[in-house]
Amino acid sequence: MYNSPAPTGKRWTVPLPASNTNAGFGAVPPERTPSAPFTVSSTTVSSTAAISASATLASTGASQTAAPKPDLKPGNPRFSSGPCAKHPGWNLQNLATDNLGRSHRAAQPKARLLSAIERCKELMQLPEDWVLGIVPGSDTGAFEMAMWSLLGSRAVDVLVWESFSADWAKDLQDLGVEPLNVLDAPYGELPDLQQINPDNDLVMVANGTTSGVRLPDFNFIDENRSGLTLCDATSAVFAQTLDYSRLDVVTWSWQKVLGGEAAHGMLALSPRAVARLEEPAPRALPKIFRLAENGKLNSGVFKGATINTPSMLAVEDLHSALDWAEKLGGSDALIERSESNFRVIDDWVSNSTWVDWLAKDSATLSRTSMCLQISAPVFTRLESSEQAAVLKSLLKKLEDQQVAYDIANYRSAPTGFRIWGGATIESADLERLTQWLDWAFHDWQNQHSANVTGETS
Ligand SMILES: Cc1ncc(COP(=O)(O)O)c(C=O)c1O
Repeated sequence: MYNSPAPTGKRWTVPLPASNTNAGFGAVPPERTPSAPFTVSSTTVSSTAAISASATLASTGASQTAAPKPDLKPGNPRFSSGPCAKHPGWNLQNLATDNLGRSHRAAQPKARLLSAIERCKELMQLPEDWVLGIVPGSDTGAFEMAMWSLLGSRAVDVLVWESFSADWAKDLQDLGVEPLNVLDAPYGELPDLQQINPDNDLVMVANGTTSGVRLPDFNFIDENRSGLTLCDATSAVFAQTLDYSRLDVVTWSWQKVLGGEAAHGMLALSPRAVARLEEPAPRALPKIFRLAENGKLNSGVFKGATINTPSMLAVEDLHSALDWAEKLGGSDALIERSESNFRVIDDWVSNSTWVDWLAKDSATLSRTSMCLQISAPVFTRLESSEQAAVLKSLLKKLEDQQVAYDIANYRSAPTGFRIWGGATIESADLERLTQWLDWAFHDWQNQHSANVTGETS
C-alpha cells in the first residue's frame, strides 16, 4: 500500500510504504531565522561594504537595503550538482583520441579501461580485496544493478531523507523486497540511525544531494554486521571519507566530484558483496545487470571488459580528471578543496540576514550539494507559489549576468538554492557568487518593498 503523494510538490516525489514511516515523513522543516549577529567574515572581505550596508538595514527592519552590483564575476559560473563543472584547466583538445573509433575489446582500448579502474581504485583508497568496475547507466545504473543483484534474501532497512533515497526505497518496494523497513526523515534531517538492524541489509545514500544533508560518519553501522551495506556515494566520494569497513557496495559516477561525463557508473564491491553475488540470484536479471553467471562473479567487468559498449571519449575525459586529481595530491586534496568551498558558503550563511541552511544540524551539512533556503521574513511571508516565482526571477537574473548557472533546488526539494562545492569548484568563484546572491536578493527586496509601499499608500 502506498501513502498518497504529498500535495505540495516539496516532499518526496515517490510515495512510500505506509508501514514504518514516521509522523514527520515528508514534512518541510520549520523555518529558521538567522541567529548569528552580523560580523564580517575574512573570506568575504571583498564584499564587506555591500554586505555590511545591506545587513545593517535589514537588521533594523528598514524596507530599503543596499547591495551594490559586484564588479567581479566568478571565473566559472557553473555550479550545477550534476553534471558538475569540469576540473580547472580542462580542455577538450587535451583528451587523447587514439582509442576513439576502435573496439573497446581490442587490447589497447581495453587496457585504457583497466587503467581507469585501477587509477580510480587508488584514488578512492579502496581496500585491496574489493573489486571496482565500470558499468552502464551512470550512478543510477550502478546502484540499481547492485540492488537487483544482491537484495531479497533477507530484510532490508532503507534510509530515506531526500529524493534519491526515496527513489531507491520505491524501487525496492516495486521489486517486492520484504520485509522492507523505510526509516525516513523530512528534508533537512537524517532518519533515526539507531533503528537499523545489523542482520538486515542496509540501503542508503552517503550524501543527500537534493537536501544537502550527509551522513557525517558511518559509525552507526556495525563492523560485524551480517547484512550488507549498499551505499550510493555519488556525491560523497572524493568529498568526504568513506569508511569501507562498514560498507559493502559503493557506487558513484564520473560526472560528480571529478567533473567527468555521465553515462557510466562505478561499482565497488567488498568480498562479502561478491560472495552474495555468487549465491543463487534473487530474481531474473537482464543482461545489462548481470554481474555473475552460473554462480561465479563476472570478473571481466572488474578488469575493463564492460558488459556493453562504453564511450571511450568519456573514458578519456575521466583520465584527464584523474591526471588533475593525482597532480593535486589525490583524495585528501580533493576533500580539502570541498571543505574550503564549504567554509566560504558557511561563513557567508553565518553572516547573512536573509539566507540559511536547509539542514537542521550543522554536523550533517553536505560539502558538495549545499542547499540553502531564503529565511528573510519578507520572503517567507509569501505564498509558496510566490516564493517559487521570486526564486525563479533571482536565478534568471544571475544567469543573465552569467554569474551562476543551475543553482536552483532539485525539482522536488524545498524552494531554495543548491550550490555545488565539489573539488572542481574554485573557492574564489564561490566568494564572488555570494556577493552576486546578496545583490540579487536585496535588489528584489527593494523592488518588493517599493511595490508593497506603492500598493498601500
Ligand atoms: C544521491 C544520488 N544518487 C543518484 C543520482 C543519479 O545519478 P546519475 O544521474 O549519475 O545516475 C544522483 C544524481 O544527482 C544523486 O545525487
